[in-house]
Amino acid sequence: MPAITLENITDAVINHGDKGKTNPRLHEIYSSLVKHLHAFQREVNLTTEELEIGRQFLFKLATPNQDFPNGEIHLMTDCLGISEVSILLEDNKNHGTTEMNVEGPLFIEGLPERANGALVGEIGANDKPLFVTNKFQDKHGKPLANAIVDVWQPNGDGFYFVQRDYLPKWNFYGRFHTDASGNLNFATVVPGDYPVPTSGPTGSMLQQLGRHGYRAAHIHYIVRATGHDDFTTMMYFNHSPYVDSDTIFSVKDFRVDIVKHDNAAELKARGLDKPFYTLEYTFVIP
Ligand SMILES: [Fe+2]
Repeated sequence: MPAITLENITDAVINHGDKGKTNPRLHEIYSSLVKHLHAFQREVNLTTEELEIGRQFLFKLATPNQDFPNGEIHLMTDCLGISEVSILLEDNKNHGTTEMNVEGPLFIEGLPERANGALVGEIGANDKPLFVTNKFQDKHGKPLANAIVDVWQPNGDGFYFVQRDYLPKWNFYGRFHTDASGNLNFATVVPGDYPVPTSGPTGSMLQQLGRHGYRAAHIHYIVRATGHDDFTTMMYFNHSPYVDSDTIFSVKDFRVDIVKHDNAAELKARGLDKPFYTLEYTFVIP
């Protein structure tokens, strides 16, 4: 190996080894990562002091904290748009189908089974009741009968049940099955916008960049239908003030409108004493 210089160090690192003989894909990813990281250092003229700040930052990201028992690496990849870039690359193949999206950190295994049509959580005093009508079909329009549909969302204040002790277990989490025609209805509340937890290193980065930490209101879905890969997505609400500035950059075209109902006869028919909302959406599963 010749004497190392600023000009040859990148190639020296990439070629140090069997050049992908043991693991070609790893070497491909590694080579590109090294190339881009070195280019970044050259571009910003990164000092050793700044590099040390970066090391300490990565250490803090990996350290468990109050909001993230596994640390904040996942959250940071979301807030840097890295998670979304991989989703966009993968979803590129699924033309004409509902958009994929990230699962997020608050999916929990063991969701309780709920009957088609059931209420999925407790309607709080400030919550707006919402009746969801969904249909699930493949890209040829064939209904997906008896598909398993996992649904989870925060309450109207933007809290998932695991984030607040006063919320009942499994509040607004449920596993449904579509009927023979691929239909699923459930009763819920309009989910609140919520900030990602900002007490840790990710939050301090957002603050120093003048970025807000809000996610636009959404409902999470995972659809498991025979003959299809498991499909994960998020349904966003157009009325959210954060729909065009979501902090993890995952809002694309899958946005829905809710319709308000405040007519006395309709309220009576639903047994409600406050206005309610409805939405309809047909999922096309790749
Ligand atoms: Fe979420």
